[in-house]
Amino acid sequence: MTDALVRVEVDGDGVALLTLCRADARNALSRALVTELDAAIADVSARVDVRAVIVVGEGTVAFCAGADLKERATMSDDDVRAFLTQLGGTLVAIEASPKPFVAAVNGAALGGGLELALACDIRVASNTATLGLPEVRLGIIPGAGGTQRLPRVVGEAAALRLVLTGARLDAESARSVGLISEVAPPDELVGRARAIGREIALGAPLAIAAAKRAVRGAAQRPLADGLAAEREEYETLIPTRDRVEALAAFAERRPPRFEGR
Ligand code: COA
Repeated sequence: MTDALVRVEVDGDGVALLTLCRADARNALSRALVTELDAAIADVSARVDVRAVIVVGEGTVAFCAGADLKERATMSDDDVRAFLTQLGGTLVAIEASPKPFVAAVNGAALGGGLELALACDIRVASNTATLGLPEVRLGIIPGAGGTQRLPRVVGEAAALRLVLTGARLDAESARSVGLISEVAPPDELVGRARAIGREIALGAPLAIAAAKRAVRGAAQRPLADGLAAEREEYETLIPTRDRVEALAAFAERRPPRFEGR
């Protein structure tokens, strides 16, 4: 049996740790790794015991060095097209998942690696991380959503600077443009991400999923449509047992016991 390229571990708080396990190749996205990533995303998205998902890279050097450039050199033009379609779908699956994803950027997040982090809902980074989209220096452009998600996160001006120069930002610069929400020492990074996951797990699961859909949809819609979409999401929560439970818990001055119903 070959070693897993993506490891999934779920702790007792319902926080899943999804680790890219190719440290020797700086966790580069080979086709085999992306296939395992697809399966891992489907797995954690379907599990009722999972409340939040952390994505991290194995080792201390890289979160993910992007597309596997050695594999790429062996691929036909059609293979490249198929890979772009596959990875694009993987990142859409993260966005479409009912579970919140937290990228714990523990080192270099370059090209597809940064695109993976951009598809996550929250990003924290170690103070050793470097982030960038170097594709133009490789004769290509970001092809798994980078040109579309980056401006939605940091605005057009900062996105153009990063995409057109291919330059790498350090963690503090990434935080200052809003690409990263928090910077931590390397040995505290996963702990911080877990703490965010545990905070998320305090919420009612159906409400968390509805909130993610509502906020995620905001950038796609005119305001009036977004307000209508928010109302639709709220409607689905009104008849839920967890909403009633939260009111009872408040009245009884105790923590709520949510069931995801
Ligand atoms: N694809 C395939 N292999 C990769 C890789 C990638 N994207 N990035 C790194 N590797 C491999 C290296 O070829 C090397 O393999 P080797 O041991 O067989 O020689 C190994 O990982 C270690 O890489 P190295 O560059 O020596 O590590 P480092 O710690 O000094 O630097 C990075 C790490 C990530 C900063 C550096 O490897 C890098 O810049 N990689 C390219 C990233 C990139 O341009 N990605 C954009 C893709 S669109």
